[in-house]
Amino acid sequence: MSDPVIEVRDLSVRYGQVQALDEVDVVLEPGRITGLLGMNGSGKSTLYKAIMGTVRPAAGSVTLFGGTPAAARGKGLVAYMPQSESIDWDFPLSVHEVVMTGRYGKLGPSRRPRAIDKAAVTDALARVGLTELAGRQIGELSGGQRKRVFVARAIAQEARLLLLDEPFAGVDKASERRIITLLRELRDTGCGILISTHDLAGVPELCDEVILLKNRVLFHGHPDVALSPENLARVFGLEAA
Ligand SMILES: Nc1ncnc2c1ncn2[C@@H]1O[C@H](COP(=O)(O)OP(=O)(O)O)[C@@H](O)[C@H]1O
Ligand SMILES: [Mg+2]
Repeated sequence: MSDPVIEVRDLSVRYGQVQALDEVDVVLEPGRITGLLGMNGSGKSTLYKAIMGTVRPAAGSVTLFGGTPAAARGKGLVAYMPQSESIDWDFPLSVHEVVMTGRYGKLGPSRRPRAIDKAAVTDALARVGLTELAGRQIGELSGGQRKRVFVARAIAQEARLLLLDEPFAGVDKASERRIITLLRELRDTGCGILISTHDLAGVPELCDEVILLKNRVLFHGHPDVALSPENLARVFGLEAA
């Protein structure tokens, strides 16, 4: 058995008085697309940050590929697409340059991109359909195109875990279709994918399994069961969970 992609144990995260995550356990195996569903404020983005190792847990542990988040990131195994509003799109990088940052962990001692790195970037851009926009500044792209840049970066990086925080918010349907197809292909090569979304209708087609989050894990299992009226009421309803 290979190590789980993600193993979160008894994870609690607090911001002052706010308990954002409370004793969360999550184990994700390779080759699965896992949907993360929950209302605003349910702790989805905090879970991503804890998995990345950028917020400090009050308690519990996060293990990626059997090691620390820092070790997994150092090996280039993890690609993280934060929620759009937390990204500064004004920094002056081209599409090609952003995707090349996915290769930084693999560059040789000269730190200069070699032919193999350039080929990886070219291939990744072709796969997401952004070849023509390679020279464009990322600030000039549409929402859907920006998400595809991130997917291209993950592909160039050869990441084995994709953490996608609301990748479809503000994205046109054509880009969404294209991204979903790519995510399936990556899943089929053994990548683990954790994707938060508010598009419940798209969940059965997209996800192999679903986590319902309300600061705690209310459910983790088959999408059809996650989307039962009872479970939806528990996670999105106003009554106490
Ligand atoms: N940096 C922060 N400082 C204080 N409270 C925060 C911070 N980030 C998130 N929170 C709070 O933690 C809870 C979970 O937030 P978040 O993880 O962003 O949820 P979601 O992504 O599901 O909307 C919310 O109550 C939110 O207000
Ligand atoms: Mg969020």
